[in-house]
Amino acid sequence: MVFFSAQPYDKTYFTQWNNQGLDLVFFEPALTEQTVELAQGAAAVCVFVNDIVNQAVLARLAALGVKVVALRCAGFNHVDLEAARALGLRVCRVPAYSPEAVAEHSLALLLTLNRKTHKAYNRVREQNFSLHGLMGQNLYGKTIGVIGTGKIGQAFCRIMLGMGCRVMAFDLVANTAMQAMGVDYQPLLEVLKADVVSLHCPLNEQTRHLINDQTLLGMKDGAVLLNTSRGGLIDTPAVIRALKKGKLGALGIDVYEQEEKLFFRDLSTDIIQDDVLQRLSGFPNVLITAHQAFFTHEALTEIAQTTLESVGALLKGQKIRTEAALLV
Ligand code: NAI
Repeated sequence: MVFFSAQPYDKTYFTQWNNQGLDLVFFEPALTEQTVELAQGAAAVCVFVNDIVNQAVLARLAALGVKVVALRCAGFNHVDLEAARALGLRVCRVPAYSPEAVAEHSLALLLTLNRKTHKAYNRVREQNFSLHGLMGQNLYGKTIGVIGTGKIGQAFCRIMLGMGCRVMAFDLVANTAMQAMGVDYQPLLEVLKADVVSLHCPLNEQTRHLINDQTLLGMKDGAVLLNTSRGGLIDTPAVIRALKKGKLGALGIDVYEQEEKLFFRDLSTDIIQDDVLQRLSGFPNVLITAHQAFFTHEALTEIAQTTLESVGALLKGQKIRTEAALLV
């Protein structure tokens, strides 16, 4: 089983939970049309969110004799599932490794932006005990708009209800358990009027650039926008325009549309060529984390266990519940 985009923690967790007797080989480069040859001799490849899994790459994997493509993530928007099916490749993913990990990270972004603890931390270390510029707002009683109430959106709704917020949500299907807890399902444009809007829907043709110049206009002045889902949900230049005008009060993102060129790498001595990200980083009311919402001990354990179990079963020709191709 050959891993692409492998990080030291992948090696640690997958090696620890490898009770399928698989021979694990870890490669740091991402899967691309240039690196696909590294899969030579593998029965399965394991990829992450920014690997290229298009028709050309899948065709080469199949030609190399690969049988299984295992996504060690939940989102599968980057995989050409139709092509995989046509090539006879089995694709699995980890549908719910820890919804709470991602939901709690959304809360971390919100609390940091609101109470400016990132600034307070630096200030106090420099013996600057002034409170100037650190004022926040109570979240208690505020309205939170949640777009997408799947596993992560539901976990986020529960957290915000627990904090005494009013929670509005938009999804293609209202969840009755959430409604029973007090979540108020409303049309998208209503939900966008909340004090805080948090995105938890998948990236697809309907949701790409869901946040754009027009939808931003309909948002409340000074609202906080959170995105721990996928970068493509947001038209970033439009968000920059809204931040410059003061229309958007704050932005917390764990994902970025062009992240595959940047995230999961130490580029601290490089000259970053992405002017959009650099502009975003310059705002005092923007907090960017580099796709770390999933990054907890519990989530990594579940990712390793589920992926290894799925690959073991698929290589034996068994049917499994985490097979992404079933979703086509
Ligand atoms: P899920 O499949 O359980 O839920 C997605 C929800 O979005 C479903 O209820 C679905 O009906 C809804 N939805 C679909 N199209 C929609 C639309 N047009 N408008 C509104 N709602 C729509 O997925 P889950 O596990 O909650 O994950 C959500 C997303 O979070 C994933 O697609 C993935 O991209 C992202 N994610 C990010 C991570 C990170 O580390 N930052 C880690 C894990 C997932």
